[in-house]
Amino acid sequence: MHSFHQFSETGKQGISEIVLHVLNAEFNTNHATTEPFLDELRRGKRVPFKQYRDSMVQLEQVLAKELQKNGKLEGVYGIEFPVNVRIAHAVPPKDYLKLVDATDYLHCDPWAGEPTDSINVFSYLHTEEGCPQLQLFESIRANPAAVAYNGGYRDAPIEKEKLEEIDVPLRTDFLLVFDSFSPHRTFRKGNGVRMSVDFRLKAGDPYADISESWMRDRIPLGKYWYLPAQGASTFDERVSTELNTLAETFGTESRELKARKDYIEKFFELA
Ligand SMILES: [Fe+2]
Repeated sequence: MHSFHQFSETGKQGISEIVLHVLNAEFNTNHATTEPFLDELRRGKRVPFKQYRDSMVQLEQVLAKELQKNGKLEGVYGIEFPVNVRIAHAVPPKDYLKLVDATDYLHCDPWAGEPTDSINVFSYLHTEEGCPQLQLFESIRANPAAVAYNGGYRDAPIEKEKLEEIDVPLRTDFLLVFDSFSPHRTFRKGNGVRMSVDFRLKAGDPYADISESWMRDRIPLGKYWYLPAQGASTFDERVSTELNTLAETFGTESRELKARKDYIEKFFELA
């Protein structure tokens, strides 16, 4: 229930350009490669990728296209927007390991509240010797206790010795798609830094169940949007397409449309 998909040349290049653009904007530089940023990143500098909204829309476009080419959007209704670009350091952030859902602990995302019909997508963007790695195991969806569980990662009903590990190459040229009940964790083991992108697809309609989980602070289900229209390049465009679709499908007074507007107002501070 997992698959590896080689990036197309244009896909790989598109992603590199977007990441480079954000880094240059953040550091106020004009470098042609990510190399000059690495020392700063290794020292723990954080980059607020999500604030670069247009770039996140463009990144979503490239990623969705790669998935579509590989047939991975068939039977998929929703996508987490924006995607997460993460910089993982040799040492976790202060107090991070005290969190019950720190990704250093073996886990399945639904245990923390992701939908059970979600599908994880992951790609390394930068790797080097001694960088944190993704450790992944075969899905345990067949185990009812694992599927029913909701709670902290350290108390999860999981027998690690029974799991079957999947070898994830430490390379940046592929997308990895895996079932949300595939246990995984961040494995830190040296001094290197890693950059990666991850997000989730949702098999079912993201607007089918608008409940209190939609707007909660942690893992709000409103982060699942419809798949993007092809060619969107700005945040405004991404938003207006979504709102128009909802107005056409459910009506201008619908709770679906209101839920999306409320979500945008809360999480993007826009009216
Ligand atoms: Fe995870």
